[in-house]
Amino acid sequence: MLTRSNDGPAIEVRDVRRVFESRKGFLFRERTRTEALKGVDLTVERGSIFGLLGPNGAGKTTLTKILSTLLLPTSGTALVLGHDVTKETDWLRPRMGLVLGGERGLYNRISGRDNLRYFADLYGVPLTEREGRIREVLERVGLTDAADRRTEEYSRGMKQKLHIARGILHRPEILFLDEPTIGLDPKSARETRKLIRSLVTDGVTIFLTTHYMFEAEELCPKLAILSKGRIVARDTVDGLRTLVGGDRTIEAEAYGFEDAEVESLKHLPGVSKVVAEEFGPSMRLTLRVRTTETAIAEVRSALPGHPELAVRDRRTSLEDVYLDLVEEEAR
Ligand SMILES: Nc1ncnc2c1ncn2[C@@H]1O[C@H](COP(=O)(O)OP(=O)(O)O)[C@@H](O)[C@H]1O
Ligand SMILES: [Mg+2]
Repeated sequence: MLTRSNDGPAIEVRDVRRVFESRKGFLFRERTRTEALKGVDLTVERGSIFGLLGPNGAGKTTLTKILSTLLLPTSGTALVLGHDVTKETDWLRPRMGLVLGGERGLYNRISGRDNLRYFADLYGVPLTEREGRIREVLERVGLTDAADRRTEEYSRGMKQKLHIARGILHRPEILFLDEPTIGLDPKSARETRKLIRSLVTDGVTIFLTTHYMFEAEELCPKLAILSKGRIVARDTVDGLRTLVGGDRTIEAEAYGFEDAEVESLKHLPGVSKVVAEEFGPSMRLTLRVRTTETAIAEVRSALPGHPELAVRDRRTSLEDVYLDLVEEEAR
């Protein structure tokens, strides 16, 4: 049973599927059928940043659009703030904000402030509150000084800040951010992440998608990994790390390894996974291990006859987990 109340979860998704049917080609129109979401289940608590992480084409935008009432699911149920996204759009829309990635959706020939005036009217912000609200969000995103310049003069990062300002103008309870730092230079991306973190302190629930694992790791206490339309993991960052069976990662590099050597590493105690890959002119073995206390020495002695052997260890990162879960076949 899905909860319907005002203090329940921010988001509850049950078995949501979405199929896209389209036609391809010009003369011989061929039907293509894409199952973008293949039965997604998800619960997101209020008042935090929840991260939906997944590679391109995983279905992140599709799910974000369904949750923000822009797209209907083919089947399944989705509640946001306890209300059905397909039936209660009038109740939901004033309470949610949506920021889709990219440069679309702003009027370039007018100022940032005028863009916000336009959207404030569209969202039904009372005229008496409009200028104050706009001043407040401009300050919030750090665009006060640039507010009266035409947005065509804005950098990519400034445009993204304006998008976020637009997304919070009507004081939504929940904010959907679809790949908020895509295409930004590192400094703007950092500023945007800082801004996102600051929004949570106001009690806004944020649902954020990204294909950058470090971004999810930095921003999201809890996250889910979406791969080919399915949630393949849902946990905290630390929880995900233990999911792959090793908190530490050992990398061994040499000019080449025998299959038998790779096999023997898999049988060492405490080793849960060994992946071999080309690494420039060398070969690299990546091992997930519970502890490195004895493992490094054991790896060295299992790989004799490689004078050039380099072995190092590091903490297993979310990126490692992510690759283990979604990009296994790519290795
Ligand atoms: N309007 C559409 N028509 C046909 N296929 C679509 C449409 N939107 C998305 N898809 C397909 O659905 C899958 C998921 O897309 P999307 O949700 O955009 O993934 P992501 O945002 O994770 O990159 C992809 O295979 C994509 O090509
Ligand atoms: Mg997308």
